[in-house]
Amino acid sequence: MRNLDETIGRVLADLAQDGRLRSLRAVEPMDGGRIRIDGRELVNFSSNDYLGLSRHPALIERARQWAERYGAGAAASRLVTGHTAALAAIEEKIAAAKGVEAALVLASGWQCNASVLPALLDKSLWGAEPLVFADRLNHASLHMGCQSAGIRQTRFRHNDMTHLDELLARSAREPGPRFIITESVFSMDGDAPDVDRLVALAEEWDAFLYLDEAHATGVLGTNGFGLSVGTHVDVSMGTFSKAMGSFGAYVASSRAVKDLLVNRASGLIYSTALPPAVLGAIDAAIDLVPALGAERARLAALADKVRRAFAAADLDTAGSTTQIVPVILGDEDRTLKVAARLEQQGLLGIAIRPPTVPTGTARIRFALSATHSDEDVERLIDATIQAAREIP
Ligand SMILES: Cc1ncc(COP(=O)(O)O)c(C=O)c1O
Repeated sequence: MRNLDETIGRVLADLAQDGRLRSLRAVEPMDGGRIRIDGRELVNFSSNDYLGLSRHPALIERARQWAERYGAGAAASRLVTGHTAALAAIEEKIAAAKGVEAALVLASGWQCNASVLPALLDKSLWGAEPLVFADRLNHASLHMGCQSAGIRQTRFRHNDMTHLDELLARSAREPGPRFIITESVFSMDGDAPDVDRLVALAEEWDAFLYLDEAHATGVLGTNGFGLSVGTHVDVSMGTFSKAMGSFGAYVASSRAVKDLLVNRASGLIYSTALPPAVLGAIDAAIDLVPALGAERARLAALADKVRRAFAAADLDTAGSTTQIVPVILGDEDRTLKVAARLEQQGLLGIAIRPPTVPTGTARIRFALSATHSDEDVERLIDATIQAAREIP
């Protein structure tokens, strides 16, 4: 007789024994880059709300207005009756901001990568198996997309354009279209590839470039719309769930790619359209973000200050150049202890461990927000340096 819970229980017990059992903690979001957990207020250095837009009155107000006007839910997938003129107008705005022909809104960044990639990498489309060149540290949703397409990925060393060039050269005689799949800001390292070089390599080797702008959208590039703006990236995606303050995702591309996705991306075809309140928040964020140059400059300056202080204290911040600043501590136990010490001091920095990051590179991933005060950031610097010194 099979017993589901018994089998699962054994797996969970193994995870717990390895110190890898994850669980959910209920939190209460607050203004000013803060959060309440178990009744305690902490400065939140772990959220992706880089501009503080999740609590911005303009987003909340438009979410309320759109819910009142259009209802609480979309009530159908977009190909049925879930598509509205308001959603079409949002897509026009995104396409204009990205400087491309068309944009398509999907339910989340994860759902976007997991369903857009299988549509683009479909062998029946190309008549031969596509060759995928993927950064070794690509996000789980990009892997999921390749996996469900049944594609074998050729991994290039993280942000290493010379390695990518070599791999593309090696496959020059193989049939099948080439796809380079990477991110413009890596979520666990806070570093960015040379996008111009990626575009040049894609052109040289006749490859398509798919760029995940989840952590760049709102923060980097012209008017904060990502590093693909003004370049020749074939397909870029981004999320509204991080700096843009709410939820959902977009794909920016040619009109033909959009039309293909409307016909082939299962995450669009077989899923209900985003609810009006979320679309209202997205619409308000798109209107607001171009004017937030001062906030973006402040965010960059805060991250710079943290990086310089950590470097002076011999702490490893990997290749961070953005608002995400990891401190690589290596050992998982040490990382957990440092994170716990910071939490005792009112500072939230979540320990990130394998399998999310490669073995031996456990880290605390600090994410800055333009809403953090100078004092918050100084406290973070002092407490982290002290904890890392005292906890071997
Ligand atoms: C690089 C990258 N792509 C996609 C996603 C998924 O986005 P979402 O949270 O909107 O599902 C994330 C989220 O962590 C990410 O870091």
